[in-house]
Amino acid sequence: MQKRYLMTPGPTPVPSEVLLAQARPMIHHRTPDFEAVVRECVEGLKYVFETEASDVLIFASSGTGAMESSIVNCFSAGDEVLICHNGKFGQRMQHIATAYGLSVTTLEYGWQQVVRPEDVQAHLRQHPAARGVIVTQSETSSGVLNDVQALGAIVAEYPDCVLIVDSITGIGAVACKTDAWGLDVVMTGSQKGLMLPPGLAAITVSPKAWKACERSTLPKFYFDWKQYQKSLSKDTTPFTPAVSLMIGLAESLKLMREEGIENIIARHARLALATRAGCEALGLVLFAPPSGRGNAVTPVWVPEGLDGKKLVSIMKNRHGVTIAGGQDDYTGRIFRIGHLGYFGDFDIITTLAALEMTLAELGHDFEPGSGIRAAEAVLMGA
Ligand SMILES: Cc1ncc(COP(=O)(O)O)c(C=O)c1O
Repeated sequence: MQKRYLMTPGPTPVPSEVLLAQARPMIHHRTPDFEAVVRECVEGLKYVFETEASDVLIFASSGTGAMESSIVNCFSAGDEVLICHNGKFGQRMQHIATAYGLSVTTLEYGWQQVVRPEDVQAHLRQHPAARGVIVTQSETSSGVLNDVQALGAIVAEYPDCVLIVDSITGIGAVACKTDAWGLDVVMTGSQKGLMLPPGLAAITVSPKAWKACERSTLPKFYFDWKQYQKSLSKDTTPFTPAVSLMIGLAESLKLMREEGIENIIARHARLALATRAGCEALGLVLFAPPSGRGNAVTPVWVPEGLDGKKLVSIMKNRHGVTIAGGQDDYTGRIFRIGHLGYFGDFDIITTLAALEMTLAELGHDFEPGSGIRAAEAVLMGA
């Protein structure tokens, strides 16, 4: 037997309370019992998204379903949108918007760069007819954190332009204040900071986004926000929901409320700091720039001369610790340690210990124990 540790930025570990809640016998969804579950989920999600003003809709889909829903509900073919991307998931938004015939302009950055709000401001000044600005808050492919608060202030000046934020690995890991920052549409997926298996997505819709939805003429059915809003007013869903996942979601939201959103984010910040300190003490180089590092995932360069795929595979097969590799151009060149959701101090210590053993096996020169020591110093508040 080998004990396994899931240290990826999604799917993420699921607490036993949530697993047990999902194992309850099936209930029918058109019942008062399930209506109570819907109410709990919506109220809990509003709490984690930090919104009173926006509606929160829940889909039986992965996060990409929520991404697609934001395009088909906010826009019409030919609408001008600005997509800021510095990684794989920003690119996905571009692919979806292009597939639906929007007039897409991209502000394209390298994967190690942060989106510059001043570029967005300059673009909107030149293109005041733009209907949307789309950005990934926490780029999972690169670990880069973009400043959606600054973008919220910029887009707020344009009454017909909505700010759409992919916070799929942001929610529950970094601050994402939907109302206070003027974020019109914010989305997440269940297999991330919500500590559930994959299969659910949630999205917020501000009054400004509802206005955009009124104007939108793109075809839609399964992801038609208005159908979800109508059902939500009766505490139900338009189609058969993922009943067990929603029961699990009500449970995980209960855990999140008990800890408190500020404390959750502080825990993530601390774990991210310890992971970074541990890696740097081993002589490794962090991938994301100091000006924009998120708390969900720590991407690290594979040391010169080492095989990145082998590193990930030794971590998993020899030590039972699953981390993620790099994506696209960075396949084999970086590895990513996830610490998003149900994580504590000793997940980080265990992972760094496995990393040290793996690096030793691969012939990397470092002082054994130095990574763990540096992480412990952070965790002990030194
Ligand atoms: C930032 C971000 N956006 C979008 C997605 C896509 O979500 P899904 O794979 O659930 O469709 C992911 C998944 O990892 C993500 O991390």
